[in-house]
Amino acid sequence: MQKTLKDCLAEAKIAKRAIGHFNISTIDGLWAIFNAARALDLPVVIGASEGERDFIGVKQTALLVRSLREEYDYPIFANADHTYSLERCKEAIDAGYDSVIFDGAKLPLEENIKITKEVVAYARASGREVLVEGELGYIGQSSQVLDALPSGAALSESELTTPEDAVRFVKETGVDCFSPAIGSVHGMLRSSHDPDLHIKRLSEVSSAVSLPLVLHGASGLTDETVRDAIAAGISLVHVNTELRVAWRNALRLSLQEKEDEVAPYKILRPALSEMQKLVEKKLRLFAGL
Ligand code: 13P
Repeated sequence: MQKTLKDCLAEAKIAKRAIGHFNISTIDGLWAIFNAARALDLPVVIGASEGERDFIGVKQTALLVRSLREEYDYPIFANADHTYSLERCKEAIDAGYDSVIFDGAKLPLEENIKITKEVVAYARASGREVLVEGELGYIGQSSQVLDALPSGAALSESELTTPEDAVRFVKETGVDCFSPAIGSVHGMLRSSHDPDLHIKRLSEVSSAVSLPLVLHGASGLTDETVRDAIAAGISLVHVNTELRVAWRNALRLSLQEKEDEVAPYKILRPALSEMQKLVEKKLRLFAGL
């Protein structure tokens, strides 16, 4: 029988490696990620934020991923990434996503717990296995190249997720996986790598909660930091900005080199292949290969 996302995350947690989660805005991204995962025979998660899935189509994104899973009998899953309302979580669950993230990181803890709990109840009632991820601690909101770290992001020790809050959140909400704030940010700095993570805090949270932990905002982190985070308990790593940058750079070059070309699939082929190379590199890192 085909492995579910829950099975894959449980296996990764035991093996102390991480599954890759990569966002898409277009179908070239989907093929790039799928080809890379297949080349290494590793499970993979396709993420689509509210904006990304509105562009591709909310249902269409879930169905495209499912069609690959079925046609190739392959563990590829669709995640409704950062979803900011109960309504949009319900929409994603109804549309067939394998997991959904309610992002209440900017809300007061009580409110975050309340809505996350409602999302979990809706997912459980769906009749399918839909995982719900919860988040604590604001880490910025945009997968862009940044000139400065996002204001309000939880970066200093006193702003990070505490093991106590993590235990309470997980217990009261009933989520399947959990993303603590441990010093990562969405997006990546233009002129240096992103700050290193608070690995000690991550280890403390990881010892306190038994669920698979998720690292958001992995673009811009050094390989060493990512390796340390996986060793300290991360089972799923999210990457978006680095892929977007690879896509844009390859597309710019392709348009320059093929000045008269008008066929989008020919113009976009180099972008697909650059993204694929990057995803392969990341997957090797996450799997310890
Ligand atoms: P980056 O854009 O920093 O890679 O973060 C992506 C992410 O966490 C999506 O959920």
